[in-house]
Amino acid sequence: MGHSGAHDSIVRKAVIPAAGLGTRFLPATKATPKEMLPVVDKPAIQYVVEEAVAAGLSDVLMVTGRGKRPLEDHFDRAYELEEALREKGDSERLAEVQRSSELADVHYVRQGVPKGLGHAVLCAAPHVGPAPFAVLLGDDLIDERDPLLPAMIEVQKAKGGSVVALIEVDPAQVHLYGCAAVEPSDQEGVVRVTDLVEKPDAADAPSNLAIIGRYVLAPEVFDVLRDTPPGRGGEIQLTDALRTLAGRSRDEGGPVHGVLFRGRRYDTGDKADYLRTIVRLACDRDDLGPEFLAWLRQFVAARSVAENSAVREATG
Ligand code: G1P
Repeated sequence: MGHSGAHDSIVRKAVIPAAGLGTRFLPATKATPKEMLPVVDKPAIQYVVEEAVAAGLSDVLMVTGRGKRPLEDHFDRAYELEEALREKGDSERLAEVQRSSELADVHYVRQGVPKGLGHAVLCAAPHVGPAPFAVLLGDDLIDERDPLLPAMIEVQKAKGGSVVALIEVDPAQVHLYGCAAVEPSDQEGVVRVTDLVEKPDAADAPSNLAIIGRYVLAPEVFDVLRDTPPGRGGEIQLTDALRTLAGRSRDEGGPVHGVLFRGRRYDTGDKADYLRTIVRLACDRDDLGPEFLAWLRQFVAARSVAENSAVREATG
């Protein structure tokens, strides 16, 4: 490991907030963390850890809470299961089971009280220390064929401060996201963030640029978060802390830049999005895709026929 000064400048650690209650998926999430819900055949959280590792961040801190033990078990060895698979000679599944435990160096801290995303990030302070770090939110999956985090890390390295990921959304959707006011930077696809608002009403939104769940943050964010009062929904908002940093110079923890993301992103945050994610990813899989897609086409065609004849009956 290289020299690390009072203020290490290399991004090495990823923080994954995973303390949420997952109320939108009840009753599935009554006794199972929402992060463990399968997306095709892998828990959603594994995609996120794989993304961090692919970006060179194999030190992963999960901010968890009550009922999140299955996350720890998933990224740990499972001796009995491994032994059973070994006895059966099922080396393919054995490798799959071992993969998640060898993937990353996963650490855990508990949030204790659910005081918002900003507070969850603040819980990472002792583990992260004085270096920039990445934050990945589990509700957003970024397609591995369209890597985003490496570009954000590059921008952080070149410009300092913090970096958010932005997508253009329909103005009617802005109220679901943190929203950024921006100005051009000297780099294609990168903007300077001048202001941020958490989940604004469409009328108050400074743009249609929405923050998605990937961040590279300057360690100064911790001090700012400590002083950030509860915001939208009575929670300590990461967006509000970033707003403060956006107005600062580089030697005070600023500025904030935005990387415009145009790649494939899958939202697993609510039921409809979750279903869409599974269908899209299943269709892309070499082992499942061809058969599943053929079935899907037939299914949709049969539905259309049924709907058309229902319409004919009703109108004729
Ligand atoms: C959080 C952030 C929001 C951001 C979003 C991205 O909101 O507070 O600024 O746009 O993640 O997914 P949440 O979706 O957790 O309510």
